[in-house]
Amino acid sequence: MCGIVGILGNRPATPVIMETLHRLEYRGYDSAGIATLDEGKMQSRRAVGKLSELETLLAEQPLSGTSGIGHTRWATHGAANVENAHPHRAGTVAVVHNGIIENFRELRDELTAEGVNFASDTDTEVVAQLCARYIAAGKTPVEAAAATLARLQGAFALGFLFEGEHDLMIAARRGSPLAIGHGTGEMFIGSDALALAPLTNRITYLEEGDWAVLTRTGAEIFDALGNPVERELRIVNVDQVMIDKGSYRHFMAKEIHEQPSVMAFALSHYLNPERTAVSLPVEIDFSGLDRLVLVACGTAFYACNVAKYWFEQIARIPVEIDVASEFRYREPPMSGREGAIFISQSGETADTLAALRYVRGKAAHVLAVVNVPESSISREADASLQIMAGPEISVASTKAFTCQLSVLATLAIAAARQRDAIDATGETRLVKALTGAPQLVAQAIKQEPAMEAASRDLAKARDILFLGRGPLFPLALEGALKLKELSYIHAEGYPSGELKHGPIALIDDSVPVIVFAPSDDLFDKTVSNMEEVMARGGKVLLITDEQGAEAASHGTWRTIVLPATDPFVAPMVYAVPAQLLAYHTALEKGTDVDQPRNLAKSVTVE
Ligand code: M6R
Repeated sequence: MCGIVGILGNRPATPVIMETLHRLEYRGYDSAGIATLDEGKMQSRRAVGKLSELETLLAEQPLSGTSGIGHTRWATHGAANVENAHPHRAGTVAVVHNGIIENFRELRDELTAEGVNFASDTDTEVVAQLCARYIAAGKTPVEAAAATLARLQGAFALGFLFEGEHDLMIAARRGSPLAIGHGTGEMFIGSDALALAPLTNRITYLEEGDWAVLTRTGAEIFDALGNPVERELRIVNVDQVMIDKGSYRHFMAKEIHEQPSVMAFALSHYLNPERTAVSLPVEIDFSGLDRLVLVACGTAFYACNVAKYWFEQIARIPVEIDVASEFRYREPPMSGREGAIFISQSGETADTLAALRYVRGKAAHVLAVVNVPESSISREADASLQIMAGPEISVASTKAFTCQLSVLATLAIAAARQRDAIDATGETRLVKALTGAPQLVAQAIKQEPAMEAASRDLAKARDILFLGRGPLFPLALEGALKLKELSYIHAEGYPSGELKHGPIALIDDSVPVIVFAPSDDLFDKTVSNMEEVMARGGKVLLITDEQGAEAASHGTWRTIVLPATDPFVAPMVYAVPAQLLAYHTALEKGTDVDQPRNLAKSVTVE
């Protein structure tokens, strides 16, 4: 979490830093700050709240200079106040940081014993204070930064700026991503290449343990041992259209509406239309595996939940799923014959990355399913499968989910074929269903007015339940997560059949119950559970297809009719109401849709 940016430029640095911070605000938005150098003299401004607060401050107290660093924060150590906002300054040093310095207490105690006074509660300030201490002891800024880095434990991306050093910036990466951008007579650093996109497409990614000394003419990179190293300079083209809201009010709305096209784009890289067959971009051998282990966090974990049904029912391979933060500390035994799949939009989620590192060398295959090809999870896996959703800016994950499902569905079909669980005819049937999914998602989006109307009432509720069965149960979980994170209404997702084992006690006419029930083999069972709710005065919003509506809409509070789907692709289609109900309920409640409180898009801390 936290976004960092730096520029050694030949134009006023403040507007460039602010514009870049806007593209990084998805990483955190508790407070923000900026420090610039004007003729070597350092000045800084920091403000609590979103970037607009810092903008207001800068309008009153502008900052000049052509070099600078900036930060947008998601608080880990210390409250969101001005003192804890970055950059942190000590002596001639200013530091911006993303990550956690795990040994900060020990370092803080050591420095305090030497007489240093700390101005903040953050872990980051020890970095600035330590570096300043080394400079005071006679080291050059570069030597001081190197000595400081050698003392740090934990995960971090850091940017250092030094008063009096107009043409110097130091960047370091351990655990958290950091990109260096090469301009013309200018150099940049940024938490991701997306943030630097309007400034340059010439990017060098720092590798684990690397640190770099930047001047306006280039970057000298060193590895963790201090040896000079060469890192590839890549041309990274990020489509500007994808990082713009266009005519939409929110990125989330745009990303929901993009789903049919990005899903079709993703599927085109995994399917062979001539043969109506799966054609994976990397070779994966599922035939000798004794099980699959699927690990992720949040929405990506719910994609794992859906995929479990697919892999077990279609490919007949046992699947274990877990949230990454549990998996990594559970230390599950591995036989060496499992395939481990790590799913992450950002590819930088700290828990998922740590779980991947746990299984490396213990599983037969370690696969990543990611949206950011250059991400740590992508690079550390044996093979990486891209979901090709394009930049997802809204904190709530939407199009990444349906693209994750699209890719996982192709893997399930490939596994089924390799394991002789289906024949060519079975593959053709599933591939046809999958090919039709983007169109069905587009049709589901057309029901937005009905979802918007229901949301006006949902916004008045204090608690909401979501029910689903089979592969629609994870959609109930996803619907509840979306609603919680966007509208701050308490919501829970349950398997329909589980309600009678306790949660049915919650039912009265103030608790809306949203039921995902396509007319599939489990429809009658789900409807029975729905009837149990209505018999207790419960207020049911049934989401089904035309056949389901005819059979079961009697007595419901509302029914929303989605297109009829092949059961295989129903989870993608029912993702749409899970997303749009949350979106419109949040609008109704007036919450911040793209940047809900307390959250950040990319969770790079434990
Ligand atoms: O980048 P990742 O897919 O690894 O992120 C995982 C979760 O943090 C993420 O899905 C989160 O739950 C979303 N905010 C949900 O909308």
